[in-house]
Amino acid sequence: MRIVLVGPPGAGKGTQAAFLAKNLDIPHISTGDLFRANISQGTQLGLEAKGYMDRGELVPDEVTIGMAKDRMEQADAANGFLLDGFPRNVAQAEALDVVLKADDMQLDAVLDLEVPEDEVVKRIAGRRICRNDSSHVFHVTYNAPETEGVCDTCGGELYQRADDSEETVRTRLEVYHTQTEPIIDYYRAQNLVVTISALGKVDEVTARAMGALKK
Ligand code: AP5
Ligand code: ZN
Repeated sequence: MRIVLVGPPGAGKGTQAAFLAKNLDIPHISTGDLFRANISQGTQLGLEAKGYMDRGELVPDEVTIGMAKDRMEQADAANGFLLDGFPRNVAQAEALDVVLKADDMQLDAVLDLEVPEDEVVKRIAGRRICRNDSSHVFHVTYNAPETEGVCDTCGGELYQRADDSEETVRTRLEVYHTQTEPIIDYYRAQNLVVTISALGKVDEVTARAMGALKK
């Protein structure tokens, strides 16, 4: 299956993607995680992305589309993938269509996670992620690690993302409404959008998502 996950910052895309990718046996491809890995490795791409991310703005399409394309072309993605955080504007959605068409492939669904703004603010405020791998995600109250400040998965140190400050979150939400939400209409026109509520416990949302994808 080829799936795009869309939803506001803090909706739980990364959290759900980890379970959905496992259930569906496809790789979880998060452009945010790819950028963060590049930043922690000090690559040129990471240097280019960092300023935009810290301000809550989108990294330019030239950088993002190339990086996403390279990742989708890796062997483990040959039979499907779950895209998280890409595409994030209509130009990226059009670029993805070109990449897919070139290999005679299509998306199966665009899973749209709906969460009210006051809830995403609470989720982001309490989020802690792992220094070793930013896809290891916790929450100080909703999804607390067994030992405070320590990743359950790998023992790494947990910290708060630089772009999770109140001011940057405001910018990220605005960027989501103005630049990312239009892709939902773009995909509605292709009859691909499945919208679910992302409220409730993590496993309840996963079950809802799996049910919606089977339809
Ligand atoms: P990215 O990393 O993609 O961030 P985002 O879209 O803002 O999404 P988040 O990671 O904030 O949230 P999420 O929905 O994954 O929620 P999570 O599962 O962590 O992008 C970061 C930046 O990179 C962008 O601002 C941009 O600069 C750049 N970038 C990335 N992709 C780009 C692109 N394509 N083009 C250009 N620039 C790009 O959950 C949040 C919290 O809630 C966690 O603490 C979690 O434990 C908790 N939680 C999850 N589910 C539940 C639940 N059901 N109940 C209670 N708590 C829950
Ligand atoms: Zn970890």
